[in-house]
Amino acid sequence: MFDTPGNTLEKLRYKRLSTWILFVLCVVLMCPANVTMHDETETEPNSGNWSWWPSWRPTSMSLLKSTEAKIIACLQNEVWSRFVTLPNQNRIWTLKVTNKTAQKQREPVGAQTPLVMVHGFGGGVGLWIRNLDALSRSRTVYAFDLLGFGRSSRPSFPSDASLAEEQFVSSIEQWRESMGVERMILLGHSLGGYLATSYTIQYPERVSHLILVDPWGFPERPQLQVSAAPASEVKRVSPPRWVKALASVFSLFNPLAVIRAAGPWGPGLVNRFRPDFRRKFEDLFDDDTMTQYIYHCNAQTPSGEVGFKAMTESLGWAKRPMVQRVHLLPPSMPVSMVYGERSWVDSSTGNTVAQIRGQSPTSVTLIEDASHHVYADQPEEFNRVVENICNSED
Ligand SMILES: *[C@@H]1O[C@H](CO)[C@@H](O)[C@H](O)[C@H]1NC(C)=O
Ligand SMILES: *[C@@H]1O[C@H](CO)[C@@H](O)[C@H](O)[C@H]1NC(C)=O
Repeated sequence: MFDTPGNTLEKLRYKRLSTWILFVLCVVLMCPANVTMHDETETEPNSGNWSWWPSWRPTSMSLLKSTEAKIIACLQNEVWSRFVTLPNQNRIWTLKVTNKTAQKQREPVGAQTPLVMVHGFGGGVGLWIRNLDALSRSRTVYAFDLLGFGRSSRPSFPSDASLAEEQFVSSIEQWRESMGVERMILLGHSLGGYLATSYTIQYPERVSHLILVDPWGFPERPQLQVSAAPASEVKRVSPPRWVKALASVFSLFNPLAVIRAAGPWGPGLVNRFRPDFRRKFEDLFDDDTMTQYIYHCNAQTPSGEVGFKAMTESLGWAKRPMVQRVHLLPPSMPVSMVYGERSWVDSSTGNTVAQIRGQSPTSVTLIEDASHHVYADQPEEFNRVVENICNSED
């Protein structure tokens, strides 16, 4: 390449563009982990006459299933896994993890409130691999793939923010009913934290403790155009025009469209942009099992992702910020917020929530040297904190 001044400008433009794409990918994949799939049937799309033609996207429900199986095989405790069919025929992929030895030592057996774990955007049950065994020492642990993510059904979602939220929340309630779980300690990460809070506002009698791990969608979008601010300040914070232009182009797509559009290069893209996922789990897998899992979770027909998009404003702000609703949680509901110290999620929101709730039991814990994926970055510390919170219940 020749370094003419024009070329340098081009390069700069290119660099900005790639930075932006990187940013979108990071936001998308960091948000939580999520997955999108079509329906729960395990038949391969593209079978039949076209099966000789390589599929553009090297993914399918059965590839997700076999990748997940490799991950679940690391669990030492008893695992019960199956699809739970909701009254509306949607299926929720569910794991139930029980430590038989530990339960026998506790009397009466099964008296402890179970812990239910809800993953974030782009995730699935497999991401809890470093937490399920440890957390089931004191109680039964349930984890499920959110409706529209992972191996769960991928129905269509309304484009209205509150209706999309309602579809997620009612699927959690229907799942609880089908499982016969009377009361639970509800833990949600990222998007899962937002939904768990919304769920607890609607069904407080079902939740004995709400644990929010780096929850998404709590803060309100800063109002940049307030007239009180000096004009120069407004100018500095407002994004440059090219960012706005690109943002409007990207907002036409679902967040994970980049991964799907990358076709056969998709798995490499996840590996390249999120090498940390591989590192986070490298003591368990020395190959790229985890990034494969994330890829297969997210490369399929978008569904939960569409629901998430409906709830999102540009640049990842929630259309209906949860700080405006936390006062609707019962005053007696204990809420524990756990943040990664190095996360892009602003942990000061935890203090805002504590302020809003006043005398109500609210705790904020910061875990050192952890990013947004707190549970995978510092699993031992995370498990210890969560187990202590659970044991404060029963
Ligand atoms: C292949 O296509 C033909 C005609 O287009 C159809 O009759 C046949 O059933 C198809 N085979 C499969 C396996 O789908
Ligand atoms: C199950 O519980 C027992 C007793 O508390 C403990 O010693 C054991 O390590 C637990 N198993 C796993 C896989 O965590």
